[in-house]
Amino acid sequence: MEKIIEERIVLCSNIGNAVYERLSLADKVFFVVDENTYKYCFPLIEANLKHVDYQVLTLESGEEFKSINAINFIWQKMSESKATRFSIVVNLGGGVICDIGGFAAATFKRGLQFINIPTTLLAQVDASVGGKLGFNFNGLKNEIGLFCKPHEVLIDYKFLETLDEKEINSGFAEMIKHSVISGKKHFDELYSIEKLLANDPLLHKAINTSISIKSSIVSNDFNENGVRKVLNLGHTFAHAFESLYARYGEDITHGKAVAAGLICAAFLSTQIDNMLEISEMKKIESLIMRFFSKIEISDSDVPQLIELMQHDKKNNGEIMFTIIKKLGDVTYNKKFADTQVVSALKYYINL
Ligand SMILES: NC(=O)c1ccc[n+]([C@@H]2O[C@H](COP(=O)([O-])OP(=O)(O)OC[C@H]3O[C@@H](n4cnc5c(N)ncnc54)[C@H](O)[C@@H]3O)[C@@H](O)[C@H]2O)c1
Ligand SMILES: [Zn+2]
Repeated sequence: MEKIIEERIVLCSNIGNAVYERLSLADKVFFVVDENTYKYCFPLIEANLKHVDYQVLTLESGEEFKSINAINFIWQKMSESKATRFSIVVNLGGGVICDIGGFAAATFKRGLQFINIPTTLLAQVDASVGGKLGFNFNGLKNEIGLFCKPHEVLIDYKFLETLDEKEINSGFAEMIKHSVISGKKHFDELYSIEKLLANDPLLHKAINTSISIKSSIVSNDFNENGVRKVLNLGHTFAHAFESLYARYGEDITHGKAVAAGLICAAFLSTQIDNMLEISEMKKIESLIMRFFSKIEISDSDVPQLIELMQHDKKNNGEIMFTIIKKLGDVTYNKKFADTQVVSALKYYINL
């Protein structure tokens, strides 16, 4: 059984069948996986591939391997196997695999078709939808990349069952972001979820809504010239937190950084006239704090964080923010003085 969530995004109850049906016209198929998705996710598909000419390309998992070396590895394997324009790449994994596998496919022989099968919550509601592809370069996240839509995105909630708690939480941060952008109805839907359980129908329903929100924003501004920037909500802060953690050689999930970033962005949003009311900020904050412990940053990190935000490639030297007028009304390209950004960071640190 399949259900179309949005154009080219399909909810599948039998992922093995769904994949098989899509590969019948391909001369060769390349599955891009990492060692975890090979172990936990590929077995749900493998039995259906008896008549398919396929290869599995296994990358090392983790953000540090989202590099040109991984792209090179995929290109090399496809070239050795004489992949043609009739070959298909299937990205089976989280955001890292979807970003890398998509980039490798979209650039090989000027573009092979690729299908995303996102296996983390973050990839299902965010990374696999929207056609942003790329890899990290020169110490900068997603420095090289392009926009190119996947041929299809296949969603199966079953994959979520082998994710650990921190990965489920990570994706939930992006869902919270989508709910703040879309409005009270979806926000309240998330608020009613007490615990994140991979097999909870409430979560499944919320995933569909979240995908639709992202997809509809992207369809109005694929190349991110305008309205798509609302999706950067919380991310100017989040990217700085991630870079700071990287400097210290410590791990942080993207979602955990986004959760903290959303709190800072909500605070910033209360600092201009006629913007977010404190009561709404507190509501957003309380939903986030229910699922995320605070990240460890202190006053002495603030100057570095400001410097990192100034260098964020989306900021052109000036720190621009997406901010919240109220639930369901988010605006972008707002400039703030460094002192206001410092106050937002200090607000978070002192929570
Ligand atoms: N392209 C976009 O629009 C977009 C949007 C948001 C994030 N991203 C990118 O996505 C990446 C983060 O994605 P992520 O959080 O999915 O990280 P990830 O791909 O690193 O996956 C997280 C971990 O979960 C493991 N894993 C994946 N699926 C599993 C499963 N079903 N069971 C058990 N383990 C599993 C992976 O091996 C990895 O160790 C970042 O690189 C970010 O830049 C891209
Ligand atoms: Zn994000």
